[in-house]
Amino acid sequence: MQSNTFSGLLEGQNVITLQRTPSTNEFLKKELSKSTPLAEGTVIMAVDQYAGRGQKDAIWHSEPGKNLTFSLLLTPTFLNPKHQFRLTVAISLAVAQWLEALLKTPVKIKWPNDIYIGDKKIGGILIENILAGKTWKSAIVGIGINVNQTVFPDPISRQVTSIKQILHNDSNIPKLLAELCNHIGHAYQALKKESFDTLLATYRKRLYRFGETHPFLVDGVKVTGALAGVTEAGRLQIDFEGHVVDFDIKEIAFVI
Ligand code: BTN
Repeated sequence: MQSNTFSGLLEGQNVITLQRTPSTNEFLKKELSKSTPLAEGTVIMAVDQYAGRGQKDAIWHSEPGKNLTFSLLLTPTFLNPKHQFRLTVAISLAVAQWLEALLKTPVKIKWPNDIYIGDKKIGGILIENILAGKTWKSAIVGIGINVNQTVFPDPISRQVTSIKQILHNDSNIPKLLAELCNHIGHAYQALKKESFDTLLATYRKRLYRFGETHPFLVDGVKVTGALAGVTEAGRLQIDFEGHVVDFDIKEIAFVI
């Protein structure tokens, strides 16, 4: 285990790098359950995350030493737990804007928080919130970005991309981690100050397939509609010939 700090908006951010761990989200969760409190901004980074977790119980695949796989501890006590989607918006926008500046190519957010270039996924976010009654104790923000990996296993090989596949050269992973955490720090401070309406409008404009008509799977049934936006609570709005219906993550899936 190696520990260092970087300066940024999350003061004296402590970065713990693990050579090998099943999942940085799980590691951080276990550390949180111990008696010593962890500072907000603590980052757990894995060189080899061999059993990474994704949304909807998916597996997050990452070749050892090739990618960014880390979890960031936040304590968003200034937000009401019923506004959990606000953190998703702030984090996914920070990741997408940072990547777009780095790659100089459009980066979209596939609702709610997958990071896409064209029709290919380059990154994923898994935010796990720990609540105590009506207050928000902490958020474990797990982020995976494909960086230097160029060969992916089936069945995901044709559905994913990486920074190397776009820039055609290797990137320095610790440097990317410091830059991305700095961006997230800014977005997190902005979330405390700015109106959520402005942030939500920016998020909507960045949505993958925004305004486009495509098939979706609703409870396993294929339906076709236009992606109209998201509600303040984070439900996806689909326009079926003038009739707008909203869905949560368990009810609808994209067909790509
Ligand atoms: C998804 O797209 O389904 C979310 C993927 C999240 C992957 C990251 S990698 C670091 C952190 N640790 C995990 O086990 N998962 C997240």
